[in-house]
Amino acid sequence: MADALGIALVGCGTVGAGVAKLLLSESARLAQRAGRSLELRHVVVQDQHKLRPVELPSSILTKDLNVALHDPHVHVICELMGGTTTAKQVVLESLARGKHVVTANKALLADAGHEIFEAARIADRTVCFEAAVAGGVPIIRALAESLSANQITSIQAILNGTSNFILTAMAERGIRYSQALAEAQQLGFAEADPTLDVDGSDAAHKLAILAQIAFGVTAKPHEIERVGIEQIEAIDIRFATELGYTIKLLAEAWVAGGHVALHVAPVMVRKTDMLAQVRGSFNAIQLVGDVVGETLFQGPGAGMMPTASSVVADLIDLAVGRAQRTFDVAKLWSKEGRGFSVEPSEKVRSRFYLRLMVMDQPGSLADVCRALAEQGISISSLVQHEAPEGNSQAVPLVIMTHYAETGKFRAAVKVIDRLPAIQQPAVSYSVDD
Ligand SMILES: NC(=O)c1ccc[n+]([C@@H]2O[C@H](COP(=O)([O-])OP(=O)(O)OC[C@H]3O[C@@H](n4cnc5c(N)ncnc54)[C@H](OP(=O)(O)O)[C@@H]3O)[C@@H](O)[C@H]2O)c1
Repeated sequence: MADALGIALVGCGTVGAGVAKLLLSESARLAQRAGRSLELRHVVVQDQHKLRPVELPSSILTKDLNVALHDPHVHVICELMGGTTTAKQVVLESLARGKHVVTANKALLADAGHEIFEAARIADRTVCFEAAVAGGVPIIRALAESLSANQITSIQAILNGTSNFILTAMAERGIRYSQALAEAQQLGFAEADPTLDVDGSDAAHKLAILAQIAFGVTAKPHEIERVGIEQIEAIDIRFATELGYTIKLLAEAWVAGGHVALHVAPVMVRKTDMLAQVRGSFNAIQLVGDVVGETLFQGPGAGMMPTASSVVADLIDLAVGRAQRTFDVAKLWSKEGRGFSVEPSEKVRSRFYLRLMVMDQPGSLADVCRALAEQGISISSLVQHEAPEGNSQAVPLVIMTHYAETGKFRAAVKVIDRLPAIQQPAVSYSVDD
């Protein structure tokens, strides 16, 4: 058997502890798969005295990153600490010291992928990141290797388990957003500060990485338009159900001409669609390739052992030498783009759901229809629940449109929001059909 692959982990929290557990408990199986043993030589942490969910030989636990960087028998550094500042230094220093890098850090790659991959090419080392998108779902390999004969034409994905857990609870049990979030926190599916999960930022980081592999476009996360789930109201979940849809937070990318449109937003998905069936904290990625057609990848998008499964798969690929070959060929975050540019989402065509709270006055419906017609938007269906006789309250009016350009739809909504009969800002979602 060849020499062992020497490994150091930087970080031993949820993911790092899972990786250490797997390396220590399944060493024989992993050695067989890798053709050489995977030797865990150092685990770098902040607090050496913390109780951890894995038993580590005390000789390998250290606070000093230099111990790992200067060990000539360490071939790979796994950056599993999170964050973008120190983590970036750790990655760049590891590459400069001739170590390969495995990371699960989507925020870091989305933010500094270009710099990190350039540094890796200069150092002739490899960066692997299967765990950075959708945790245990092998979507990076699927895109970079298994589907490499295709031009991907669209990606629609549920990439944030916390949001999907909350939306599933709201749809299935009719509970409010705040209650569903509190449950997610109690069950450990949401952080104490859930902002990055529920405002679409986490999904945007992951979409930026998928778009890089699928289309060769570099989109900074702040350039990806995103809407989160915090504002979703129970009334819209109910109307969606009535109309045969369910609301999902989707990260989407499409090719149109030489352009790629990217966004993260709550979208109404038909209840019979595969993505609508993805419940709880699961992730799913639906890809369309010009050769293969439609494919769906689904599984646990986070958690200790699912994420460790992806990190250790990267280690095996490095041990075998496969990862180095793929890295060379894929030319990710390089100047060699594939000719696609990122298109503003204003141009994207979609159907739309529009809910208005309208005073029951003569002419108000006609005004709304006129505002849509002026932008060339035609109505596919319209539902107004009858107000009790003599009721002076606003009543919900739900309109489903035919396909329209997002920019034109937004212009119509601006006009509608200013109509005297409209009592609250319009609520709208794009509809996936
Ligand atoms: N959690 C998931 O399910 C999941 C899934 C996919 C991807 N990820 C990504 O994986 C990465 C790690 O996530 P996690 O949930 O495992 O984080 P975590 O539980 O917060 O663990 C972070 C670890 O990093 C260590 N650390 C922090 N700063 C350090 C420093 N300056 N020097 C040395 N060690 C340091 C901490 O040490 P101490 O323990 O001593 O404090 C801790 O062990 C993140 O990039 C995350 O986005 C996580």
